[in-house]
Amino acid sequence: MAPLNKVCIIGSGNWGSAIAKIVGANAACNANFDTTVKMWVFEEMVNGRKLTEIINKDHENVKYLPGHRLPENVLAVPDLVEASRDADILVFVIPHQFVGKVCDTIKGKIKADALGISLIKGVDEGPDGLKLISDVIQEKLGITMSVLMGANIANEVADEKFCETTIGCKNKNHGALLKELMQTTNFRVTVVEESDVVEICGALKNIVAVGAGFCDGLGFGDNTKAAVIRLGLMEMIAFARIFCTAGPVSSATFLESCGVADLITTCYGGRNRRVAEAFVKTGKSIEELEKEMLNGQKLQGPATAAEVNHILKHKNLIDKFPLFNAVYQICFQAHPVTEFISCLQNHPEHICYPARIDGGRAAPHLSHS
Ligand SMILES: NC(=O)c1ccc[n+]([C@@H]2O[C@H](COP(=O)([O-])OP(=O)(O)OC[C@H]3O[C@@H](n4cnc5c(N)ncnc54)[C@H](O)[C@@H]3O)[C@@H](O)[C@H]2O)c1
Repeated sequence: MAPLNKVCIIGSGNWGSAIAKIVGANAACNANFDTTVKMWVFEEMVNGRKLTEIINKDHENVKYLPGHRLPENVLAVPDLVEASRDADILVFVIPHQFVGKVCDTIKGKIKADALGISLIKGVDEGPDGLKLISDVIQEKLGITMSVLMGANIANEVADEKFCETTIGCKNKNHGALLKELMQTTNFRVTVVEESDVVEICGALKNIVAVGAGFCDGLGFGDNTKAAVIRLGLMEMIAFARIFCTAGPVSSATFLESCGVADLITTCYGGRNRRVAEAFVKTGKSIEELEKEMLNGQKLQGPATAAEVNHILKHKNLIDKFPLFNAVYQICFQAHPVTEFISCLQNHPEHICYPARIDGGRAAPHLSHS
């Protein structure tokens, strides 16, 4: 009999805890996986008790996913090396700013043939521009990486409300195993090969959601939101076509849960939209609002906008991505929020056909203003 796959979840925030609920339940009843699922918890004191102690005794992450019982076979471990040492599958689900330190801590101390799957949304900058978080992990740890991204707001997933998700994985056998680990009746998994496109969608949609939040804060309605989503999607596709050079970038991938579905849910329901709306209504800074509104959770949209801006500047491509650029300038360069509306009004999509950011691949316009 093949040895059982041991699973370790690296991270225990809102999404990490929701996914631990699924992975724990699946591992408990699937012969391919060891029953115990270790979850690395960044230790902190909550109401005078250690968070790991609370999770292991009460089976609830009271800080990041209150009100949800975690399976008893999910074991919270405060020591990262101990949690990950013997794992065959490593699920990375931490805010992207902590990836470097986490990888440096476990480098050379995990199984060389472990499989990694990243649920992390964000991008990094490499010497030549864009660097995917999965590539950062792969390079630092030398393990094969896949990704999981989709329209998956953690609290709704934990509530077992139906949704879909996408695994990007280049190896069919690995994809099938990861699907077994993740899928439930209410969390349906599709596996696609274009893992870099899946991952880039997960990062970029948070920038668009900040723009959606600006429009909400300014009192615009659903029609405007739909325009933000459409123009944002056009920029996401254009960005992927420039930067995902390892293989094909097919339109079909943007129709998976990781693409248009995640973009819609994030522009209506996510924390990036919520904080951006408050940014407009209160006049407070993004950092202040992150502290006030998110109870230790981290915001990804503004940070991703800054990273993408550096990458685009480096390639002299800023003008091709006005929506991404406007979000950056409003968050970091004190530009007025109303500039976001001017950006929509003057978007290359509305100005002239040759300037279309997708190079004219989408349906051609019949008339131009
Ligand atoms: N929450 C969602 O709905 C959702 C859905 C899909 C994907 N994601 C992505 O999943 C990733 C993780 O998000 P989340 O929602 O689980 O986290 P979170 O924002 O809820 O929580 C922050 C986490 O960071 C940890 N942390 C704080 N300081 C740290 C440090 N110095 N080193 C390491 N860890 C530290 C905290 O313990 C906590 O576990 C992000 O990339 C996010 O974009 C989130």
